[in-house]
Amino acid sequence: MRRLSVWVSDREVGVLQENAEDGTFDFIYRPDVPAQLAVSLTMPVGLPAHEYTGFNRLPPPFEVSLPEGFVLDALRRKFAKVVDVDDDFSLLELVGRHTVGRVTFGGPLEPEPGLERRILAAARSENSARQLAALLKAHPQTTGISGVMPKMSSRHGDENRHPGTAVAGGVLVKFDTEDYPGAALVEFACMSACQAAGLPVPHLSLSPDASTLTIERFDVTAQGRRLGFEDACALSGIARHGKYRGTVLDLFRMIDHFIPATERPAARQDLLQRLLANDILRNGDAHLKNFGLVYDDPARPGLAPVFDVLTTTVWIPQDLPALRLTPQHAAPEWLTDSGFGPLAELAGIPAKAIAKLHAHMKERMLHTLQSVLEGNAARQNSGARTALKRALRDAAS
Ligand SMILES: Nc1ncnc2c1ncn2[C@@H]1O[C@H](COP(=O)(O)OP(=O)(O)OP(=O)(O)O)[C@@H](O)[C@H]1O
Ligand SMILES: [Mg+2]
Repeated sequence: MRRLSVWVSDREVGVLQENAEDGTFDFIYRPDVPAQLAVSLTMPVGLPAHEYTGFNRLPPPFEVSLPEGFVLDALRRKFAKVVDVDDDFSLLELVGRHTVGRVTFGGPLEPEPGLERRILAAARSENSARQLAALLKAHPQTTGISGVMPKMSSRHGDENRHPGTAVAGGVLVKFDTEDYPGAALVEFACMSACQAAGLPVPHLSLSPDASTLTIERFDVTAQGRRLGFEDACALSGIARHGKYRGTVLDLFRMIDHFIPATERPAARQDLLQRLLANDILRNGDAHLKNFGLVYDDPARPGLAPVFDVLTTTVWIPQDLPALRLTPQHAAPEWLTDSGFGPLAELAGIPAKAIAKLHAHMKERMLHTLQSVLEGNAARQNSGARTALKRALRDAAS
């Protein structure tokens, strides 16, 4: 029987075990764990023990930080002979002490200060994407972070952000690959556009060569305290590979189910604006793992700031939105094709008001994309600038 200890903010709170006979998983809380240290909003402390037994696969909240894409490939290459990275339990065991949020597996958080300093230095350098790719390939097991794009993280802040002040909360760095040239610059521009449209966006910066985006972590406070983070996939009880199978309705339900009533109207309005922003920017990758909740106290979660917003039609010209509006909708559609009526019904806001908000946001967002393009005028003919020009064209269409 395989067993893995489960920790919240460096305190051991329970164990995940695989039943040898049928391969199912049980999670068992240790006695006397305070409600505050629940492993998930969906798995409160104090329920009868059988509530968390017999999972056919890892419980969805334990899948939040499992690597995908580039990081998974790097792990496969490095550990193929010793670890089956296609087995989720083994993968969790491998990266479980380097996760996003406050839950770790197999032990408390295991910082790597030397490596983190090298990550930060690489992210500020010329040729940053290449340097970071080399670091990631050498140390993929330190990236317990989901998503297909290459990325690494540091609990140290970007000390250059304000002269003399360190950001204790740490950063995530995402960098370009040959498959998606210009992704860092386009994401920087799109996230800046979201901010200009009134959405909460963590602090962002670009490397001098524009191949790496550095994003302040929202799951660690400025004092270094870790916050709970769970994505909408896990919170909807959907296994991670089902991230495109959910619907926008799941996102509204997540808010209605977990966010305290007093905060709900603002969160619903925030979600509506994110949906409009993704539509304006032609982001076809706003799936369930790209929305989530953060919390210090599990009784009071709030929407995580905006992350992973970029114009995917730059690289996939006919791309469509990641999610249908509801299970009754046959396929996802851009709002320019469907009109605002179906979204109005879902959000409980008149279509006319949504149209007005959309127009207002679009103007501000296009303005921001244009300014970032002008700010990068010196990169004439670079792949990144060409990608950003396409993003502006698609958002303006
Ligand atoms: N600023 C942040 N602070 C803390 N965690 C973050 C932050 N941004 C992203 N994350 C976490 O890292 C994960 C991967 O980030 P992101 O979605 O930006 O990567 P990606 O590789 O582009 O993803 P995808 O596969 O959706 O394209 C997120 O799902 C979230 O769990
Ligand atoms: Mg993502």
